[in-house]
Amino acid sequence: MDKFVIKGGRRLTGEVTISGAKNAAVAILPAVILSDEPCIIENVPSISDVNISLRILKEMGAEVTVLGKDSYRIDPTHINNFCVPYETARKMRASYYFLGALLGKFNKARVSMPGGCPLGDRPIDQHLKAFSAIGADYTLSQGMIDLRADKLTGSQIFFDVVSVGATMNAMLAAVKAEGLTIIENAAKEPHIVDLANFLNSMGGNIMGAGTDVIKIRGVERLHGTTYAVIPDQIEAGTFMIAAAATKGDVLIKNVIPKHLESITKKLEKIGVNIEQFDDSIRVWVDGPLVKTSVKTTPHPGFPTDMQPQIATLLTLAEGTSIVTEGVWEQRFRYVDELRRMGADISVDGKVAVIEGTGKLMGAPVKACDLRAGAALIIAGLAASGITEIEDIYHVERGYDCMEGKLRELGADIEKVSFPEEASDSEESSKKTAV
Ligand code: EPU
Repeated sequence: MDKFVIKGGRRLTGEVTISGAKNAAVAILPAVILSDEPCIIENVPSISDVNISLRILKEMGAEVTVLGKDSYRIDPTHINNFCVPYETARKMRASYYFLGALLGKFNKARVSMPGGCPLGDRPIDQHLKAFSAIGADYTLSQGMIDLRADKLTGSQIFFDVVSVGATMNAMLAAVKAEGLTIIENAAKEPHIVDLANFLNSMGGNIMGAGTDVIKIRGVERLHGTTYAVIPDQIEAGTFMIAAAATKGDVLIKNVIPKHLESITKKLEKIGVNIEQFDDSIRVWVDGPLVKTSVKTTPHPGFPTDMQPQIATLLTLAEGTSIVTEGVWEQRFRYVDELRRMGADISVDGKVAVIEGTGKLMGAPVKACDLRAGAALIIAGLAASGITEIEDIYHVERGYDCMEGKLRELGADIEKVSFPEEASDSEESSKKTAV
C-alpha cells in the first residue's frame, strides 16, 4: 500500500504541464474499436484508468503498441472477444464505454454492470435508453449487461437527465447506425466534443457536439487516424487551486483556457489573480482569499469534479462560504477528513457551509475517491505540519504523476510504501473505482 506524506506550508512556484484528459481518454480508447484500421492516440495520460482501458482492449484481441510516454498505436482489426468481465469492469466505472463501442461495431456487447459508487446512486438507465432507441435489445443477468441488435437504425433520443456517459455512449453506438440519430438534452463537456472530433477524424459525421442537440449521420465504415486527446480541464483546475491554496505563483501549461472559464471566474471572485495566454494560464495570490458561493452544474457550469478542491480552498478564505453539489447525491464524504485537519464545515444534504478559518493542520487522512484525494493533497500542501494520505490509488486513477509534478513546483511530498494490515488487505482487494 502507498500513501502520500506531505510537509505543508511551502508556496508552489514555477511551471507545470497538464496531461491529456482522463474523461476523454477513457472514451476515445474504446472508440478505437469502431475503426477498421489501426489508430494512433497521443497525449494519453499515464493513469491507472488508462492502463485498465488498454488491458481490456488487449484482452479483446486488439494489438496495442507503446510509441512513447503518452502515445499508443492500437490495431482493433483482430478483436474477437466482446465481453468485459466483472473483475475488470469493477476497477473502472468508465468501462461502460465498451458497451457503446462494441455495439456500434459488432451489434453486440457483454459488459459487467458497474458496481457501487462512493458518489451516490449511479444508474445507467439513460445509456440503455439510447441503445434501445437505435434498435438494440438488452438483458441484465448475473450482473452482466448483454446488448444485441440485428441492425442499428438512427433515431431520436431525448435524455431525461444530462449525462456525460450516456451522451458519449449514444455517440459511440450511433456513429455507424443507418440514417440520422438526434440526441437531445445532450451533455456539453469538453470531452464530449473531443470524442465527436475523434470519431469525425475517423470519418464519422457528428454535428453539434458541445451544444445540447447532437446530430449523427451514420457512416458505413470508420478508418484509422492519428489523434491527440485534449488537455485535462480538471487536472488544470486542481493545479490552479493548489497554487492558490499555497499562495503560490504557477504557470500551468498545455491547457485550453476556454475550458477553464467557470473555474477561473470563481477563483477571481475568491481573490486569486489569473492571467490567460493561448495555451497556458498563470495563477498567483498576493492578497487575502475571500468567501464565495459555488454551485456545481453540468458544463458550462462549475464542474462537480472540482467541488472538493474549491471547498478546500474556501476553508482557507475569510468568511462563510456555501458550496452546493448539483450533480451527485453524495459528494461530501471527504468533509470528515478535512475536519480532522481543522476545517469548520457543516453539511446538510447537498449543501456545505464552510466557515473559513484561514488555516489547516496536518493529520493522517484517507482519500475516499479521486477528487477527494486531490482535495486532501491541496489541504496537506496548505496545512501546517505533516499530512499522511492513505488510499492514494484513487488519485492515481486520474492524475498523471501528481506528486512528481507538485515536487517540481517545490512541494514537499513523497509517496511512501507501507505494509498492509490484515484487515486492510481485505478492503483493498475490493477496490472499486468511480
Ligand atoms: N444519471 C442517471 N442515469 C444515467 C446516467 C446518469 O440518472 O443513465 C445521473 C447520475 O446519477 C448523476 C447525473 O446523471 O446524478 C450525471 O451523471 P453522468 O452520467 O453525467 O456522469 P458519468 O458520465 O457517470 C462523468 C465523469 C465523472 C463526472 C461526471 C459529471 C467519466 C468517466 N466520469 O461521469 O467524473 O463527475 O461525468 O461531470 O467521464 C471524476 O472524474 O472524478 C468523475 C467522477
